[in-house]
Amino acid sequence: MSSKNALSAAIRSIPDYPKPGIIFRDITTLLGDAVAFGQAVDELVAPYAGLGVDKIAGIEARGFILGGALAHQLKAGFVPIRKKGKLPHQTVRMAYSLEYGTDEMEIHVDAVKAGEKVILTDDLIATGGTAEGAVKLLRQLGAEIVSACFVIDLPDLGGRRRLEELGVEVRTLVE
Ligand code: PRP
Ligand code: HPA
Repeated sequence: MSSKNALSAAIRSIPDYPKPGIIFRDITTLLGDAVAFGQAVDELVAPYAGLGVDKIAGIEARGFILGGALAHQLKAGFVPIRKKGKLPHQTVRMAYSLEYGTDEMEIHVDAVKAGEKVILTDDLIATGGTAEGAVKLLRQLGAEIVSACFVIDLPDLGGRRRLEELGVEVRTLVE
């Protein structure tokens, strides 16, 4: 099996979750498979080796799992971007669009220093609304966003293009 196919095979698809007509791409099966998880992390970090990345910013919730592993491999710090009301210290907040409606996310004001090189990560990019909000938050703190990486791209929903239009390089492993 090619490496892309091995990763795709490790992702479970759940029909009609969370609503009828949606096929939910569930990475818990990939995370629970030592070989597939290791391969995904290795493939995500490979392009960034030697770039001197300071921080990995992970989006709640599954971006935390990937982000911790990426940070360890790249010898970078990890910073969480959370749904509103979860972070204890002073934050900056950003509204972001979801497929249906909006929500707000936050980051600690001192999570990233101006000029630090940051990679943004999450399990999946769909419409890109969540990642766009995260990019805006990081830029508000003065971060230099080196790249954004995801295990899964849902290309029909346009998220990759949306981030690229913001000047952010996007890397994904499977469609
Ligand atoms: C999912 C996924 C991304 C986002 C992608 O998270 O983990 O964060 O949706 O969608 P978008 O590109 O259309 O913005 P979700 O909002 O389900 O939150 P959760 O991780 O807390 O379950
Ligand atoms: N899986 C995880 N998160 C998502 C999905 C999905 O299929 N679609 C939109 N956000």
